[in-house]
Amino acid sequence: MHTPHLLSINDLTKSEALEILDTARELSRITDGAIKKLPTLRGRTVVNLFFEDSTRTRLSFEAAAKRLSAEVINFSAKGSSVSKGESLKDTAQTLEAMGAELMIIRHPTSGSAQRLAESGWVKSHIVNAGDGMHEHPTQALLDAYTIRSHFPEHDRDFTGLRIGIVGDILHSRVARSNVLLLTALGARVVLIGPPTLIPVGAYSWPVDISYNLDEEIGTLDAIMMLRVQSERMSDAFFPTEREYARDFGLGTQRLKSLRKSAIIMHPGPMNRGLEISAASADSPQSVILEQVANGVLVRMAVLYLLMGGTSIPTEGVLV
Ligand code: CP
Repeated sequence: MHTPHLLSINDLTKSEALEILDTARELSRITDGAIKKLPTLRGRTVVNLFFEDSTRTRLSFEAAAKRLSAEVINFSAKGSSVSKGESLKDTAQTLEAMGAELMIIRHPTSGSAQRLAESGWVKSHIVNAGDGMHEHPTQALLDAYTIRSHFPEHDRDFTGLRIGIVGDILHSRVARSNVLLLTALGARVVLIGPPTLIPVGAYSWPVDISYNLDEEIGTLDAIMMLRVQSERMSDAFFPTEREYARDFGLGTQRLKSLRKSAIIMHPGPMNRGLEISAASADSPQSVILEQVANGVLVRMAVLYLLMGGTSIPTEGVLV
């Protein structure tokens, strides 16, 4: 990778994105058997710097770093000196003084990862683990990895695949990163949701836009249901939850319209019964837990490539 940081999918060329996916697949092959842990980052320190709640992203970065034998320091703003007014700069410099070489940052403010990377406050590599409504690049990479594993004929190029991203596009950093990555890989992306939840800027993105899920569902190879992000909504964006679920939820009836070869995705956490029914989330077509497992591999690849990996060692550590 030519960049010291991963702040946005725009930081990557198509070949660099494929390099991450290929490295993740190679790491999967190596760590699939008796070898669970590689010595690659032994003696290196990675910090999880989380100013917003997370289950999947924080824990999978931690698991990824540990599988590469790195030391991991977990910082959560809740319960920290942030409540006493400590700034992002002072927090980051404090953690670097403890040995951090790479910081994984999640923050409610769009642009915060870029601010940390470009400020000169710290020398560490910076990985964006979700900044406000802006981007979540490793989520898009793990989503692309998951799609590729189900459509092996599209290993190097997603041309011919039609992928629907459904629901609360407006507040979704996952949607923004996925639009950038999936279209760069050649997929046709259709954003589907109520007009109130489609960002104005999306009309100039290289995507199709639809307000009618029933018209689109049978055309999709992958359907990515997005969480309704109530915590980011200060206004009413739809009349009632019942109407939202009826028009834009992947309910049990609508599930029948999906192609049998199509996969169901969700970045999590899910609002079961709102954007996705339990029957859809747990159906044989759902790859939601595969996305979680693939997240560890893709994040291993990102840490490995950013922290100077050249060739993956074939000898691991038996644990
Ligand atoms: N997909 C995702 O970012 O989940 P978490 O908020 O649990 O990390």
